[in-house]
Amino acid sequence: MERFGESLVKTIWIGDVQNGQHTDQTVELKGWVKRSRGNNNIWFVVLRDSTGTIQCVGKKKALGEAVFETLKGAIIETSVVFTGHVRADERAEGGHELDIANVEIVGAVNSERPFPITEADMLVEDEDGELTYGGTEHTLNHRHLYLRTTRATTMLKLRSSAFGAIHNYFRGHDFLEYQAPNFVAGAVEGGSTLFEVPYFGKQAYLTQSWQLYAEAAMPALERLYTIAPSFRAEKSRTRRHLTEFWHAEMEMAWATNNDIMAHGEGVVRSIAKTLLEEREDELTYLERDLEMIARYADSPYPRMRYDEAIEILQGKDVSVEWGQDLDYSKEKILTQDFDVPHFLTHYPKVAKPFYHRVDPEDEKYVLCHDLLAPEGYGEIIGGGERTWSEQEILQRIDEEGTPREPYQFYIDVRSYGGVPHGGFGLGVDRVVSWLAGATHIREVIPFPRTSRRVTP
Ligand code: 4AD
Ligand code: MG
Repeated sequence: MERFGESLVKTIWIGDVQNGQHTDQTVELKGWVKRSRGNNNIWFVVLRDSTGTIQCVGKKKALGEAVFETLKGAIIETSVVFTGHVRADERAEGGHELDIANVEIVGAVNSERPFPITEADMLVEDEDGELTYGGTEHTLNHRHLYLRTTRATTMLKLRSSAFGAIHNYFRGHDFLEYQAPNFVAGAVEGGSTLFEVPYFGKQAYLTQSWQLYAEAAMPALERLYTIAPSFRAEKSRTRRHLTEFWHAEMEMAWATNNDIMAHGEGVVRSIAKTLLEEREDELTYLERDLEMIARYADSPYPRMRYDEAIEILQGKDVSVEWGQDLDYSKEKILTQDFDVPHFLTHYPKVAKPFYHRVDPEDEKYVLCHDLLAPEGYGEIIGGGERTWSEQEILQRIDEEGTPREPYQFYIDVRSYGGVPHGGFGLGVDRVVSWLAGATHIREVIPFPRTSRRVTP
């Protein structure tokens, strides 16, 4: 490995080898041992890199005793450089094999401490007794190593494509990327899920949403968006709550609830479309129905009022009262029969925070929307029109018994040329979880943060 001044940059990728780009060539493959087996004369190693896997074959006769022993010593997750000849082979997984000519061990693995994650750790009962992937104490303690499994890697690839799709969507629609502080003085989404942080003798909180600070810049930029972490002290143990999640939010001047929903629908459809374009292999690996994902990408998303949803639920004998926000258990029942995401609009004022604009046609409701994903996944977007006049915002803040002081900047935005505007927040982890068909939201984020875990 004495290569100072030289480059280590990889030029040959296993995915490309499997696509037939290097057949009958001699190549150098850099990667990690995924599996190996063999006998005293022949040794098979499945080598992986970030793009795929390939079986590599080493014969003692060709390699000589010493190199053959080195190869056999390359146990699971050893990093290696194999030099060899690529051969097309119909029987091989992926269609190609490498005949190994030389072996270089880069990072050895101590055989007394073998790689601790095995197939038996994958789909098993988790901490809550639910059948999920990677959710045992053992796998969660070894999350840093679990990330190398095919399933985890696949999820991270889908995640990367989803982030790219969101940026492309908003930039393609003339939105400017804008950042808000993460230390804040007040709640956006209710006080019960605020994380308190000691702040030089004062109390600060971790932000629950970028929204209020985005509204401050709305008269400056008119269309803005972000993808940033939000924090919620969620005690509830569900398959869709994290304490730190990635929040794609947008804010837009001169817009109604309908205008905002059109962008919510637009960005979700464009994420589905991007996954189909960039990640077909990964979706197939996850056994996702590609026609169903195409429906998510192509179909319009129906809109239904909150009251209608309550009627549907009551018709299914679910005990739910008008005025309640819908929790996971109810959304799950509601969305099991949906074949595409649905918007629920016009929630009761009592169920939503002060910033939602009251419906001028009926004061019991606010002009808001939640977007519910099908297959039982439920809410992926929350948004709507904002209370935009000074007088109305003061009234709503006082009605809620919220102190005005931390929100003075927010009130000022209305005092100096308020305009109708609105926006939404999309839970990126939730969208990826749904499109990937994940068994739990923690599957799609590298180091999930929940009420029970901040390590590793
Ligand atoms: O519905 P929420 O609470 O709305 C807001 O925060 C607004 N201020 C957003 C806005 O208008 N700019 O959160 C928005 C979305 C939810 O629909 C959900 O997808 C996601 O954020 N979310 C969570 N995702 C994972 N774990 C949690 N604990 C989440 N809480 C909300
Ligand atoms: Mg919500």
